[in-house]
Amino acid sequence: MPGYPALPEGLAYGGDYNPEQWPEEVWQEDVRLMRQAGVNLVTVGVFNWGLIEPAEGVYDFDRLDRIFDLLHSEGIKVDLGTPTSSPPVWFRNRHPGSRLVDREGHVLGGATRHSFCPSSPEYAAASERVAGRLAERYAGHPALAMWHVHNEYGWANAHCYCPTSAEAFRAWLRERYGDVGAVNAAWGTTFWGLTYGSFDEVEPPLLAPPGLLTGLQLDFMRFSVDAHIANYRREREAVRRFSDLPVTTNFMIPNCKPMDYWRWSAEVDVVANDHYLDAETPDAHIGLAMAADLTRSVSGGRPWMLMEHSTGAVNWQPRNLAKRRGEMRRNSLAHVARGSDSVMFFQWRASRHGAEKFHSAMVPHAGTDSEVWRDVVDLGADLGRLAPVRGSRVEADVAVVWDWESYWALELEWRPSADLGFRERVGAFYEALWREHVTVDFVHPSADLSAYRLVVVPSAYLLTEGSAKNLHRYVEAGGHLLVSFFSGIVDENDAIHGGPYPGVLREVLGLSVEEFHPLREHGTVAVSSGAGEYAGRIWSERVRLGEAAALWTFADGPDAGHPAVTRHDLGAGAAWYVATALDEASGSGPRGPYGLRGLLGEVLDHAGVRRLADVPEDVEVVRRGAHLFLFNHGDRPVTVPGVTGTGLLDGVEHRGSATVPPGGVAVVRT
Ligand code: GLA
Repeated sequence: MPGYPALPEGLAYGGDYNPEQWPEEVWQEDVRLMRQAGVNLVTVGVFNWGLIEPAEGVYDFDRLDRIFDLLHSEGIKVDLGTPTSSPPVWFRNRHPGSRLVDREGHVLGGATRHSFCPSSPEYAAASERVAGRLAERYAGHPALAMWHVHNEYGWANAHCYCPTSAEAFRAWLRERYGDVGAVNAAWGTTFWGLTYGSFDEVEPPLLAPPGLLTGLQLDFMRFSVDAHIANYRREREAVRRFSDLPVTTNFMIPNCKPMDYWRWSAEVDVVANDHYLDAETPDAHIGLAMAADLTRSVSGGRPWMLMEHSTGAVNWQPRNLAKRRGEMRRNSLAHVARGSDSVMFFQWRASRHGAEKFHSAMVPHAGTDSEVWRDVVDLGADLGRLAPVRGSRVEADVAVVWDWESYWALELEWRPSADLGFRERVGAFYEALWREHVTVDFVHPSADLSAYRLVVVPSAYLLTEGSAKNLHRYVEAGGHLLVSFFSGIVDENDAIHGGPYPGVLREVLGLSVEEFHPLREHGTVAVSSGAGEYAGRIWSERVRLGEAAALWTFADGPDAGHPAVTRHDLGAGAAWYVATALDEASGSGPRGPYGLRGLLGEVLDHAGVRRLADVPEDVEVVRRGAHLFLFNHGDRPVTVPGVTGTGLLDGVEHRGSATVPPGGVAVVRT
């Protein structure tokens, strides 16, 4: 079935397999250990270009043939990578015009992957050719399950500033705008008199003195997404000429800011994601949950694939913390709980050479007499027991708006406060919802919202008129909306919407904002809810009520006595607004551990979102189809009430409650 790897049954388990880094004797041990661990899918060939095409137009598939046959003989399926994220050394030397140039105009060196210009016609031709040759050779191989085009588009070369890219950008602008007058109007080039006389005068946003046109920067980011998508499509079509198996590429949600994955998701047969824990942050599992929910949402709710994560430490963080015992299992199963039909790792066997030799693997340098290996084997057994979960879906009552374009725009230079951040606000709302045991979807603000009881808009600084109308219709029809400050401020060109802030949201929120009053670094402002006081960070502003009513007020600071939280009853629904960052600073509030939790509690109740009562805060609860996943992130056993059904991992019958050991996981078929 398109969209799923052609696996026999159950969840996919495995990882990137790079046998070319090892002598062939090791391969025999590899496949024996794969069988032992229950591995059924491996990603092969991802960085093989220089090996299968050692000179331009000269192909050598011998080694890859043997790898395919060996895996097939052991019943292990192949997710075949096209090797185009790492062009061969000869390519770079033969085609110097394809070299990557950074914002400062430096031509970047080779001897690493991703060092090529995404708009290079030479790269386009060569990558299409090698993908086609691979497809021709392996399309009919019985081990082949799916295609893995490229690796992590935009990982290191999201934007290139070379002359070829500049020319491609100008062509993109011509196509989008038709005449240069429309570009001038969109970017507002009368500001500082930066008007263009022709498309030929437009440069990419190279490093410049401060104040670069923001509309230019946004369009360059959009152009760059298109350039990468064009490369993907070309290879995908080359593959499809020979094969009708699913084609995908691995995303980096949420850590690749330049790639707009709402756009990308339409291009793949199955969404695949690479996720690495932000290991040093406390409660890193909340970031993992957010990444998984966003990936599922990008996939339109359909099951997706965890294509890479790690058994332990990575090699590229400032301090690479190993996972504690049980953490790899919880991480893996959390992705499954949130919609993944696979658990894959980078990589099978730890490398001896090169930049990633300190990255963990399924087979660590320590070998099989290690906790990591034993955990890998146990995880394979767990995943076997979870086979019935495959294909089922996660349903959510609450959605959080996520828009990559707004993310880009909000973080351009010269905003009202350096403390404003897209991830900062989304993360704060996500964490508060996670702690309330509420599973969320993410949505683009123009999406159909009718399935949700509540839509949260944490930082939609850039919001088009069309999207704002969508939110308005949603509320009128009975939806509940919670909007945070600095939303709805600019249009798609980073131009302020007309009239007082928040332009296109004034009507739905029933208010306007007269002036922003950002706080000093680490400053706080008191907010009174009537029953108690909370602290607000980062922001205060002068809200002027229209049809909305004030619920909470600023108790001090520049807006003392003015509204801080409002509600506008509109049609059959309601729209809340919160004018400051109500975070962890105040523990003394009457409605919960901190202000945002208190506010969310009220809004969730009003919206009729059902939550689990009596579940400790560090227990993660996710329902996927008929299966209830319970994760105990704490260090004491917990008993979760209201659980009846069979434990899939341990066979235990639960009648009315389930007890989960510290650090443990239960999956109950209810
Ligand atoms: C990414 C890449 C892999 C590897 C890992 C290391 O996900 O796709 O090839 O470099 O990072 O964490």
